[in-house]
Amino acid sequence: MRFGNDILDEIRTRLPCSVVVGRRVKLQKSGREWKGLSPFNTEKTPSFYVNDQKGFYHCFSSGKHGDIFRFLMETEGASFMEAVERLANDAGVTLPKAADYKPEDTQKRLDIYDALELAAQFFQGQYTGANGVKAREYVATRHLSDKTVREFRIGYAPDGRNALLEHLRGKGIRDDMIEAAGLAIRPEDGRDLYDRFRGRLMFPIQDTKGRVVAFGGRGLAADAKPKYLNSNETDVFKKGQMLFNGHRAREAAFKAKSVIVVEGYMDAIAVYQAGIEAVVATLGTAFTEEQITTLWRFAPEPIICFDGDKAGRAAAYRAIDRILPVLNVGHSFKLTFLPQGQDPDDFIRSQGVDAFRAAMDLSSPLWNVLWERELGLANVSGPDGQASFEAKINNLVNQIGDSAVKRRYQLTARLMLADLFWKANKKNTKKGTISDNLFTNDAGVRIETILLGLCVHRPDFAEKYTDRLYNIGFIGGTNGQYYLKFFEDMMIIIGAENENITMLTLYTRMTDKFFNVLNFVHGSEDIEKKLQYGWQLRARFPSIQFEHVNNYVERCFDHFISALKLRDAKRDLDSLVKHLPIEIDKDFENRLIANQRYILNHKELIHVEAHDLDEEASAMRTAAGTQGKRSIEHAEQQVKTVQNEAESILNF
Ligand code: UTP
Ligand code: MN
Repeated sequence: MRFGNDILDEIRTRLPCSVVVGRRVKLQKSGREWKGLSPFNTEKTPSFYVNDQKGFYHCFSSGKHGDIFRFLMETEGASFMEAVERLANDAGVTLPKAADYKPEDTQKRLDIYDALELAAQFFQGQYTGANGVKAREYVATRHLSDKTVREFRIGYAPDGRNALLEHLRGKGIRDDMIEAAGLAIRPEDGRDLYDRFRGRLMFPIQDTKGRVVAFGGRGLAADAKPKYLNSNETDVFKKGQMLFNGHRAREAAFKAKSVIVVEGYMDAIAVYQAGIEAVVATLGTAFTEEQITTLWRFAPEPIICFDGDKAGRAAAYRAIDRILPVLNVGHSFKLTFLPQGQDPDDFIRSQGVDAFRAAMDLSSPLWNVLWERELGLANVSGPDGQASFEAKINNLVNQIGDSAVKRRYQLTARLMLADLFWKANKKNTKKGTISDNLFTNDAGVRIETILLGLCVHRPDFAEKYTDRLYNIGFIGGTNGQYYLKFFEDMMIIIGAENENITMLTLYTRMTDKFFNVLNFVHGSEDIEKKLQYGWQLRARFPSIQFEHVNNYVERCFDHFISALKLRDAKRDLDSLVKHLPIEIDKDFENRLIANQRYILNHKELIHVEAHDLDEEASAMRTAAGTQGKRSIEHAEQQVKTVQNEAESILNF
């Protein structure tokens, strides 16, 4: 530990907690303490207290508690070191140098920083001056505003051999410092130094304190090689520790509780210019553990936003492998891929910043991306593929270092594997039916509407099933909107879905009543058409034209209700898994697994039942066919009756 307690106490004594906190939170005296609105939560009544005697703050709304150093870490994402350095500076306390810090090292670093700062100023001057025409033209093509150019201190390195070198020498900077700063290269053959950056647009790379530590230089030509030239690693520039724009992003990230990680300089600048300040770029290198933990100080769940192309995906996938071992409770990442090889810069320019924000809102949790990545590489149709997929997933999950997080991932993995294999195995045996759709698409909503309609039109059903429908939560108003929706849904389903359902909804007696009500509610227009349509439907599905045997419709109804209930159970389970508690004990885990097994078994039963109902329906259709002419006449008769009834309603 570099700082002893006496030093920290010295700083604490000189800077009362209320002073440090008071810079950010409006405090009011309250007895011996101060109180104010929590900086961690939005609240209307103050629940945030500061006690100068104890040197602590306490936030009742968030449970956060700490001293002045903690406060800077919590509100600005500072590291402990930074918090101490800054507050020591405010308090006028001199910190001891770290043990391995030799004075000459310090001096050398200071000289390097000087050289880099002078270089940044030189490049800025070149950009705005006569030499900078081409650079300015290029910047215009990239749609950067003057404000952005100034904010990011964008500059231009002129196309000579040693323009910068001469400039720095003129300012009294020694050659070895210029070289050590990564600004000039010394040829092996002993000739004079020359500038590293020539004829490039210059992006200063700044550290957490905003000091220039390196540069990225972009060639102005479309085919410049390399496109970006970066400073080499130096005493003050370690690529793996840097996040471009980190010092500007940190506070914004803290406020927004989120930060976006992009790949390129231009991406970070474009996102920032569009009004999202909480954005950083990695410098085209693989993610390091240091960058990951730094990002977690910015926000609990940074969003990695890379190109949707192959390279971007590969980079994001590599990042996941780096993140897994260091995952811990309360910290993770989300990922998002922009469409068709667009980077954030292209995307914002073509679709606008709102679309970009929307894309960020749709980012996927790390686990989902990992799962898709592995699933994309696997073939789980047979037992061999399933076994190796399971091993692969388990292997990845086992890389998680934090045991609590590991357990949650293990549990999620178990549930998802069981579900996946169940589906894969079922696919091999039977064709899907309508009740399966309840689990996979929005057909369920339409079926609910139909069941509701059915209840309305069959009072005997309604009586029998009201309680059960109520329990699964979809019995609602019975106004005209519902009838209309019912009708529309029916049409959709008739066009596309299983005949079984059509039969259910068009059960003869019911449809007759239905048309009456529909006409009554929606007036006279199109009656003709609607009746015509009803007639066509009956012709298309002859089995609705006769009385069904063995309570067929009732059994269909029961079947759908079971399927709906099971779907709700599955949704409950999914949401439970989504919001797992931090500590998962064995008991809880077993209960979840048992629950899932129950659901899967019953899904299987319902699946078989649906299959049987289908077969029964087809037998009925065949039987109806043999009744031939009689049933058609019967249907025609019914349509006439409905027509008469409708007319009498209208005449009324
Ligand atoms: P990109 O080529 O995606 O960057 O490389 P970009 O910012 O979108 O570039 P343009 O200007 O819009 O074409 C991503 C990052 O990889 C590093 C840079 O840090 C760059 O921002 N890189 C890329 C290099 O270091 N050298 C290169 O030659 C290319
Ligand atoms: Mn780009």
